Amino acid sequence: GFTPRIFSGIQPSGGLTLGNYLGALKRFAALQGGKAETIYCIVDLHAITVWQEPEILRQRIREGAAAFMASGVDPAQSILFNQSQVPAHAELAWLFNTVARVGWMYRMTQFKDKAGKNSENASLGLLAYPALMAADILVYQATAVPVGEDQKQHLELTRDIAAKFNHDYGVQHFPMTEPLIEGAATRVMSLRDGAKKMSKSDPSDASRINLTDDADAIAQKIRKARTDADPLPGSAEGLKDRPEARNLVNIFAALSDQTPDQVLTRFEGQGFGAFKPALAELAVETLSPITRRMGEFMADPDEIDRILGQGAERAEAVATPILDRTKEIMGL
Ligand code: ADP
Ligand code: NA
Repeated sequence: GFTPRIFSGIQPSGGLTLGNYLGALKRFAALQGGKAETIYCIVDLHAITVWQEPEILRQRIREGAAAFMASGVDPAQSILFNQSQVPAHAELAWLFNTVARVGWMYRMTQFKDKAGKNSENASLGLLAYPALMAADILVYQATAVPVGEDQKQHLELTRDIAAKFNHDYGVQHFPMTEPLIEGAATRVMSLRDGAKKMSKSDPSDASRINLTDDADAIAQKIRKARTDADPLPGSAEGLKDRPEARNLVNIFAALSDQTPDQVLTRFEGQGFGAFKPALAELAVETLSPITRRMGEFMADPDEIDRILGQGAERAEAVATPILDRTKEIMGL
């Protein structure tokens, strides 16, 4: 048996969205205080798989930490740190580069999306990204990882690496980490296109709600969100072929800790003229204290650095014996 341990991370690539909040940050906070230890990471080594301006990256690492804490991740209850400050991640990633197969990496849809047409010119790190992600998780022998649906394929690859390592070396050293993909907001979609996920990399700012948007911007984006003209049905079943409507109901459900069915019990028969203002009010009510707290944390960068430094020490204390044992198993 492995000690119950939860790990997850977010890239400090700027522009966190409502998707990141509902799919990740809010759930990270909710998982604290349970029977599993919670370890949360700003994954700067992942961010540099595409070009980052050094001075901006440094700022965004602190912003990432501020977003975690403003969303309720408490550095006294969780280990909160920055990936590059704990060298065990990069070292285990190298070991996993020798376990994972090249073909596994080429199959990752995120690599295909991010590398684009000219994939020969992508960084080698962008291709190897999932081996580093496996190392992030398995260097803590984490048993569960809360993520959005977009990370499911990477999680499967983490399990493939763990299984191949355990098999090749004849040990039960790494757990088969479970993805925790739960709730109504595992895939928050674009406000402009119900077939695309809400993402900071979408060229249209109207497609997403940023954690830094003010109340007016949030209300306006929700008012202009694409929908259909039909009234809302009495249950989620009735939204099957209405992706835009389903997305807004899912967002309402996740923000208010209800199921989509509960939300629809209240709005059955009403149109978006009634639903959208209620959603906007709820979104502003939830996000404005987070935006405010982020600003408060960002006003004291030295304090953020101190918290991340302490987190790194605590993370290292968990990771080092696991990394040492891994090397020993491999004959290193
Ligand atoms: P992004 O996907 O925005 O580039 P990350 O890769 O750092 O950011 O993802 C951080 C976390 O946020 C991951 O757990 C990811 O699954 C989650 N996430 C990102 N976008 C969404 C979305 N639209 N809906 C739900 N979860 C999301
Ligand atoms: Na992602």
